[in-house]
Amino acid sequence: MESDDVLYFCLVEATSYRTHGCGTLRLLHKGEKIRIAGWVRRVRDLGRFVFVDVRDRSGILQLVAEEGSPLYEGLRNLGREWVIQAEGTLRQRESPNPRLPTGEVELVVEGLRVLNPSATPPFLIEDETDGQEELRLRYRYLDLRRPILQRRLELRAHMISVIRQYLKERGFLEVETPILIRSTPEGARDFIVPSRLKPGTFYALPQSPQLLKQLLMVAGYDRYFQIARCFRDEDYRGDRQAEFTQLDCEMSFVSQEDILVVFEGLVRTVFQAVNGVELEPFPRLTYSEAMCMYGSDKPDLRYSLKWEEVTNWSQAQPVPFWKGRRTFWMWIPHQRASRKHQERWQELAQAHGASLTFIQQGEGSRASSIAKYIPLESLDLPGDGLGIWLTTEHLTALGVLRQAFITDLNLQPEKPWSVLWVVEFPLFEEKDGVLAPAHHPFVHPHPEDIERIETDPLSVRALAYDLVINGHEIMSGSLRCHTPELQLRIFRALGLSEAQAREKFGFLLEALGYGAPPHGGCAFGIDRWVMLLAGAQSLRDVIAFPKTASGADLMLGAPAPLEPEQKAEVLQWLTIETL
Ligand code: AMO
Repeated sequence: MESDDVLYFCLVEATSYRTHGCGTLRLLHKGEKIRIAGWVRRVRDLGRFVFVDVRDRSGILQLVAEEGSPLYEGLRNLGREWVIQAEGTLRQRESPNPRLPTGEVELVVEGLRVLNPSATPPFLIEDETDGQEELRLRYRYLDLRRPILQRRLELRAHMISVIRQYLKERGFLEVETPILIRSTPEGARDFIVPSRLKPGTFYALPQSPQLLKQLLMVAGYDRYFQIARCFRDEDYRGDRQAEFTQLDCEMSFVSQEDILVVFEGLVRTVFQAVNGVELEPFPRLTYSEAMCMYGSDKPDLRYSLKWEEVTNWSQAQPVPFWKGRRTFWMWIPHQRASRKHQERWQELAQAHGASLTFIQQGEGSRASSIAKYIPLESLDLPGDGLGIWLTTEHLTALGVLRQAFITDLNLQPEKPWSVLWVVEFPLFEEKDGVLAPAHHPFVHPHPEDIERIETDPLSVRALAYDLVINGHEIMSGSLRCHTPELQLRIFRALGLSEAQAREKFGFLLEALGYGAPPHGGCAFGIDRWVMLLAGAQSLRDVIAFPKTASGADLMLGAPAPLEPEQKAEVLQWLTIETL
């Protein structure tokens, strides 16, 4: 984002401490009496002049004092990150700095007040800092002074305000749901909170507001949204945090198509407003197409590489190692694979239950290990490049290898954004030999497949969809079971007896029996989406106070042991007989 764009977000109102934000001053303010307040970024003492860069959230302004002027010494003695107030007259710079939006002007200081000195910061508070991430997280309040982080949090706030406006204009009502609730199964472990008033019982923090939003539909709220904090005690990865934010939505009296239209519009509006990008209509792939062509349910289509199944052809060839296995073909134009690459990819393929066969075509030459079985001239190849056959029964191998080709051949994205829908996910999957919900247990089966819930559950498709941006799952949603009968059938298929289902989800089954409308919805991972829009590498770069990979807040020192008295009390709540 250009610095000028951010003025929109910045401080424009004068207060008793200042007349302007540092970054808002331009040539048009020349000659005006100005008062600013901010942090000393650096002091440059050039002998005849001393220059001080002062920073606030709106940007950076240069202050200047000439040798002999009353404030020359005052400016020279300032230290990094001191908080100061300065006033003076704005003048045009003799040598402008084109890299700064305020680079054409400087403030000739006539008054200076130190509001608070600062200890020497442990790292450089610049976009290009010398601080390692651990140190920066420990001093997050200093890290957050870096302009790049300020721009990212501004972008996040802007995006959320665009979302709110879009949804409110379409009749969505913002409702808050509680944080201390009962477990909501989203596939992760719950964070639990022991109850003092009912010892031996526990609250769970919401993994998402899933059931509460469904109950709001039963209650007739029709269209709901919430910027909701979710908590999942799972292993951390680059695009996962224990505590993260969803844009959570639900709608009544809608089909899958109605939902996709509303949220495609939302994504388009946000891209337009935040990044000035006009997106093409989003392509749709079914889950099974995505798996067969890209080996992933979240393919990154900025790269056009794709697999094509050629099993019918390969089974008719006299190639012994292709016999009896599914075979997929990929052509990578104008590329060669070194022996080292071929060996690495072959190892990777084997680790994923697959094997590879290569063919290289250069000027007038073809080379492949299948030359002894098939006359290579008989193959129809599209020009200079690398062809790869992959045999496997595990479609995920297709995705792993596709990604390895992209990385190892250093292929560049062919476009900046790939946004697509993946639809028709399976309703169930097998986890450790047991039937489990592929998403969560409240998803509505595809109407054409409902009769197979009991007989062939793994073949049942769901009315469920994901939105994938540049290979990241940004949003997930579905239509829901809205009758108690259908919901009970799903619970039964998942191995819950009616009594167990009523014990765990009695409130839901009961509510569905009181006139639940057909409904469905979705949730966006706000942090992931901001990360992509901001071009950041990690969720930590777009969350004000994030946790490390081991779930720690290094600044607060959380999690922390309890004080002995508190610990004794908590142990009492935990060890009550009812446990
Ligand atoms: P799901 O579990 O797929 O669906 O979550 C929805 C979206 O939330 C984001 N997300 C995360 N972001 C950061 N850290 C995490 N640990 C994390 N886990 C999930 C992802 C994901 O696409 N209740 C359903 C939604 C629904 O059916 O309406 C749900 O929570 O971007």
